[in-house]
Amino acid sequence: MMRLAVFASGEGSNFEAIAKACSDGRLDARVVLMVCDRPGAPVVEKARRMGIESFVFSPRDYESKSSYETEILGELKRREVDLICLAGYMRIVSEVLLRPYEGRILNIHPSLLPSFKGAHAVEQALEYGVKVFGVTVHYVSAELDSGRIIAQRSFEYEGDSAQQVHALGQKIEHELYPEAIQKVINELK
Ligand code: GRF
Repeated sequence: MMRLAVFASGEGSNFEAIAKACSDGRLDARVVLMVCDRPGAPVVEKARRMGIESFVFSPRDYESKSSYETEILGELKRREVDLICLAGYMRIVSEVLLRPYEGRILNIHPSLLPSFKGAHAVEQALEYGVKVFGVTVHYVSAELDSGRIIAQRSFEYEGDSAQQVHALGQKIEHELYPEAIQKVINELK
């Protein structure tokens, strides 16, 4: 069975959706580690409640990105992690992790890529007056939100509330991410 690590920085609703899909048998994998760069984030408590091991760190305790990523890599190797799923992890991943996990790091993004990359995708889409929104699961590459697309789903919305768009998008994310992970697993098998 594939061994997953989920990286998150905030709420962790996607982390929870992935972990539930694994325990339900909808996803043929196991979450063996949750990695978080914000010690107080709600995802840390979610992992604890679900009995999933976590590696939580503060980037400011390290002298560089490569020093904390080297430590993360050690945690991944120790648990024989096959696949990394970024789920609201608000940091750019460098070569330290990209090289050993090439083709094995995924991310979920709240827009129909390649439109609206970056941290304010929903707000930018609203600013444009977009009528069709969506979410994308893609491979992670060195360039932000630019790796090859694995799965996408769109939805229509007329209004101006970023909160409403986020809520609609997240409902879709929680189904789409586990499905996309399963697709990647099937291809790796
Ligand atoms: C998601 O909406 C995802 O698209 C974005 O960050 C958010 C994470 O939410 N990359 P959560 O922490 O999984 O609830």
